[in-house]
Amino acid sequence: MEITVRTAELLREPSDLAMLATFEDETLPGEIAELLEPSDYHGRAGQTLLLYPRNSIAPRRLLLVGLGKRDAVSAESIRQAGASAVQEARRLQVAAVTADVYGDLPLPPEQSAQAFAEGMELGAYHYWHYRTGLTNEQTFTVQSAVVFARSENSERVRAGLAAGQKIAQGVLLARDLVNGPGYAMTPAKLGEVALELADTHGLKVTVLDQAQLEEQGFGGIVAVGKGSANEPRFIVMEYGETAADKPTICLVGKGLTFDSGGLSLKPADAMETMKSDMGGAAAVFGALQAAAELGLPLHVVGLVSSAENMPSSNAYRPGDIVKSLSGKTIEVLNTDAEGRIILSDALFYAQRYQPAAIVELSTLTGAIIIALGAYATGMMGTDQALADRISAAGEASGERVWQLPLWDEYTEMIKSEIADLKNIGGRAAGSITAGAFLVAFVGDFPFVHLDIAGTAWVDKPAKPYHSQGGTGVGVRLLVEYLQGYVDAR
Ligand code: BES
Ligand code: ZN
Ligand code: ZN
Repeated sequence: MEITVRTAELLREPSDLAMLATFEDETLPGEIAELLEPSDYHGRAGQTLLLYPRNSIAPRRLLLVGLGKRDAVSAESIRQAGASAVQEARRLQVAAVTADVYGDLPLPPEQSAQAFAEGMELGAYHYWHYRTGLTNEQTFTVQSAVVFARSENSERVRAGLAAGQKIAQGVLLARDLVNGPGYAMTPAKLGEVALELADTHGLKVTVLDQAQLEEQGFGGIVAVGKGSANEPRFIVMEYGETAADKPTICLVGKGLTFDSGGLSLKPADAMETMKSDMGGAAAVFGALQAAAELGLPLHVVGLVSSAENMPSSNAYRPGDIVKSLSGKTIEVLNTDAEGRIILSDALFYAQRYQPAAIVELSTLTGAIIIALGAYATGMMGTDQALADRISAAGEASGERVWQLPLWDEYTEMIKSEIADLKNIGGRAAGSITAGAFLVAFVGDFPFVHLDIAGTAWVDKPAKPYHSQGGTGVGVRLLVEYLQGYVDAR
């Protein structure tokens, strides 16, 4: 979508569809108030009303989009309004729209513009690569949007819109990766996608294959990948360079392209959505693409452990003892707790960068879905300053996180008699013992673990800018965190 800025008045400019965002219970311009008699429109958050003004104003159609009470308006309200607007435009088959807000938003212009662009781009998304016989109506896309701004704000609005579009492209990349079926989106394929990002976005990419992983001691990834004909990969993607004034931030993602549970096989209904078990990897891909597009002055290293967890006569077994890259040994009691095993190698690998922060994302535990549902990502961390930054980024990006504790008692629960660690700690505190397991591999570097099992996938949309399937969660959060890192320096 092409989004541009103009300094004109929405109601005076001809348009097939003008979208006007308004605040709850605030007076509207006279021409519109007249059209709303009797008025059923109050500007509540999520409320929309389509009007055919019949020449009383320049636009042929006017879509009112409610933002809710002005003092409660956040970037998230604007993002959702952007999504509702683009969906209405699609329904009406209008390719070129105009947009404005009536009154002043209680946010900096670049921030609201970014959220609006994100909502527009994300709200228009469907994963229909495999559908045939789609009608022209279904494939219709909104081509362009003109956003009106006051001249003193127009540069900031323009910058915000451009940033929002770049971030949204990262989110959509992540959604496409998650939505791709397991047979197509193999570890090798993820490696190819990384190499494409090297070409298109100048990332430095290294992909280690099975033989290299065996040779170099990536025992966790190799063990988990053993049961599948689709061989595992370890993917390193580097954006920017190390420099004295540039901290290195490591983003680590779980890339299980399909998780059957392995020999500890999942029941059928739990396996249905397990092509999405690479949501963490997808977020790392999307965030790196966006960081490169935005040209952030940072050194960001993306590390993805990718494997397919399958049952077979070659598969790793309950009772096996795996030696991870760190040299630590892991007693495997349940082959379905595979994420933490492949992540142990990636987290240990991250230490070689002496990172200022390691932020890891994984669809790690079903228990986090029970705890938080689809509305927050579970967070655990070893460094409260880092965790606080991630929390703040979660609020700002609309991708909320909620922190759980990592007390020593939880670490006790994953100690093994015959190895250094065991890969399950029992049903109690399932998300936290998984987090505690990961901590054993990060050394003293500031570390945050984000369990996105509840937020990476939606069976039905939880937000207006969702579509069924992958959400691309984590990309907006990570970019916000990285941008905050830049601003704080
Ligand atoms: N990939 C799953 C976690 C998951 C569950 C993600 C549901 C998304 C939706 C993970 O590998 C897993 O199976 N975890 C087990 C761990 C258990 C065996 C300790 C779980 O949560 O049941
Ligand atoms: Zn599993
Ligand atoms: Zn898994």
